[in-house]
Amino acid sequence: MTVDTYLFDNEALISPQVQASLPQGYSIRPLGAQDYDRGHLQVLGVLTDVGHHTHQDWLNQFYYMKKRNDTYFSLVIVDHASDRVVAVGTLLVERKFVHCNGKVGHIEDIAVSGDQQGKKLGLRMIEALQYIGAQNGCYKVILDCALKNVPFYEKCGFTQKEMQMAWYV
Ligand code: ACO
Repeated sequence: MTVDTYLFDNEALISPQVQASLPQGYSIRPLGAQDYDRGHLQVLGVLTDVGHHTHQDWLNQFYYMKKRNDTYFSLVIVDHASDRVVAVGTLLVERKFVHCNGKVGHIEDIAVSGDQQGKKLGLRMIEALQYIGAQNGCYKVILDCALKNVPFYEKCGFTQKEMQMAWYV
């Protein structure tokens, strides 16, 4: 059996409550170097266009993030029966001068495989990322989402604030 390499190794960052609340046969853990083969990009494809990666393109990004693993915290939920990734999400920890060198967590790229939606995997992913933010000392965790997803994030404890602006190159 091949031993996987993970984006980060600090097990204390994985919420035991979330792990215990997942349906039987599922677990949550940091993104692993072999998750390309477990369908990581296919799950992200539920969210948006992921582009055309070679396996090496994917590994290059994985190892870039692993070198900065006090900043990028990507998690996956795996269904052990199929050995497939079924949900993905990332917390990006931004360091600031304001709030006395404060940290802000940004939730990014949340997706649950189409045939696995409605099992609270999205909710558990968000709870797990909120936990990582709290463990890292973030004073807030924020995200941008489509209007149709506002009710989902409200169920995860978020409230609507301000307005998102975008500029595309
Ligand atoms: N509108 C209203 N309520 C919703 C929605 C929605 N769009 N989605 C989920 N909910 C509710 C559920 O009914 C459930 O409510 P309950 O506790 O009363 O039963 C609760 O929210 C939790 O739902 P989950 O089962 O955890 O949701 P799921 O696992 O299906 O994940 C997600 C939700 C992530 C939005 C999923 O549908 C998905 O992957 N969508 C496509 C990709 C996407 O839009 N991702 C979010 C992008 S925003 C970002 O990345 C920051």
